[in-house]
Amino acid sequence: MANIWVILVLCLAVGVSATLDKAIFEPKGHHDDKVIFKPKGNHGSPKGHHRAPSGTHVAPKGSHDSPKGNHGAPHHVTHVAPKRAGSTPKGPSVRPKQKQARPFFVFGDSLVDNGNNNFLITGARADMPPYGIDSPDHSPTGRFSNGLNIPDVISEYIGSEPTLPYLSPELTGQKLLVGANFASAGVGILNDTGFQFINVLRMPLQLEYFKEYQQRLSLAIGEEQAKQLVNRSLVLISLGGNDFVNNYYLYPGSARSQLTSLSDYVTYLIAEYRKILEKLYDLGSRRVIVMGSGPLGCAPAERMQHSLTGDCAADLQAAAALFEPQLTQMVQDLNAKYHADVFVAANTKLMHHDMITDPKAFGFVTSTTACCGQGPFNGMPGLCSLTSNLCPNRDEYVFWDAFHPTERACRIIVQQIMNGAPEYMKPMNLSLIMSLDSNM
Ligand SMILES: *[C@@H]1O[C@H](CO)[C@@H](O)[C@H](O)[C@H]1NC(C)=O
Ligand SMILES: *[C@@H]1O[C@H](CO)[C@@H](O)[C@H](O)[C@H]1NC(C)=O
Ligand SMILES: *[C@@H]1O[C@H](CO)[C@@H](O)[C@H](O)[C@H]1NC(C)=O
Repeated sequence: MANIWVILVLCLAVGVSATLDKAIFEPKGHHDDKVIFKPKGNHGSPKGHHRAPSGTHVAPKGSHDSPKGNHGAPHHVTHVAPKRAGSTPKGPSVRPKQKQARPFFVFGDSLVDNGNNNFLITGARADMPPYGIDSPDHSPTGRFSNGLNIPDVISEYIGSEPTLPYLSPELTGQKLLVGANFASAGVGILNDTGFQFINVLRMPLQLEYFKEYQQRLSLAIGEEQAKQLVNRSLVLISLGGNDFVNNYYLYPGSARSQLTSLSDYVTYLIAEYRKILEKLYDLGSRRVIVMGSGPLGCAPAERMQHSLTGDCAADLQAAAALFEPQLTQMVQDLNAKYHADVFVAANTKLMHHDMITDPKAFGFVTSTTACCGQGPFNGMPGLCSLTSNLCPNRDEYVFWDAFHPTERACRIIVQQIMNGAPEYMKPMNLSLIMSLDSNM
């Protein structure tokens, strides 16, 4: 089974690099200074994998340091040029509303990506049906969900519209005040995680874009106002899952697992995650919800690949069991360093675990089989498409595809983020944070 995965990954890499080369030689088209691929939007674009490169444009910037070959420079994205600093010559042009909802910034991986990857040449994408089947217009948005995802539901709780992907051309003017979503499916804590997806926004780039966003915001509302907006914002970050699934355990005997013991690897991941959180702090974030890896071994993809019996895969469960408590400890250490409850560890592993062990208690019919996919447990990675199985009622499933929860499961996770006891949310849940910060 695992061999199938390797072959799939290779096919994906080859397929994508072919597309990439093609794109590079088809420049003309509209000039958009930041994006290469236009999002497909709502037009059910002709079949799965063919992304019509309309408006294809490879920004010259950065192309020298990122060879177009597939394994090129993993930390760079070939085509995204800096955004226009807005059409504001001088002075604030955007005025905050009287009662502006709390700004919200999102970082990390596919659990929280609202569609940045639609704008990238990458294999990690969810912009084809049936993704988004339960969204308002029943069409894909780039979210790895049948409808809303975790940050969208948090946006509802804070009384805000969903965060726009940072790469979206719509993120200008008044929309800047809502916040932004920098997350990108396929990324991990480490730069080399998810190399097979070619172009994704790795963490150094997400943080760079956050800086760039703040410059644009300063031009729009003034520097002092921009600082305050970031200071009173809420931040969500989700990392770690891909560092196991798409790195250490990518295939049996991966280079990483040959070189490093699991426990050393986890220690390394935690130390690198800490540096990322410190950068978020340095960039002005003061309330940050930190999500860990989830119950990795119980995802349908892992049940299919790593477990003969269909039980949760033991090695990945062991990895998650090592990672989660060390993450919580690191978050507490950081708060001690900053003398404030800046970071909150959200134990998504436990939240998810509750649903997985007793799906019926939450009104689900199954937590082992994905709604959309094929193969045992519908767990074949990357194969939720128009030709795969699709369950009629998404609300009965914990898993939407081989890795990602359904909207309904996301809602239950966010309920725990809001109201969970300390074992779920350390040192405090989001409803307490919101009441503490209500005078900001
Ligand atoms: C990841 O890349 C950034 C710069 O691109 C670098 O500063 C950082 O040290 C790298 N992280 C690791 C773990 O190699
Ligand atoms: C950010 O807000 C906190 C209160 O939450 C305040 O103590 C601090 O001075 C603010 N920092 C800036 C740079 O505005
Ligand atoms: C939130 O967390 C606090 C502190 O752990 C706890 O006392 C409270 O019961 C939790 N739930 C709500 C709704 O505040």
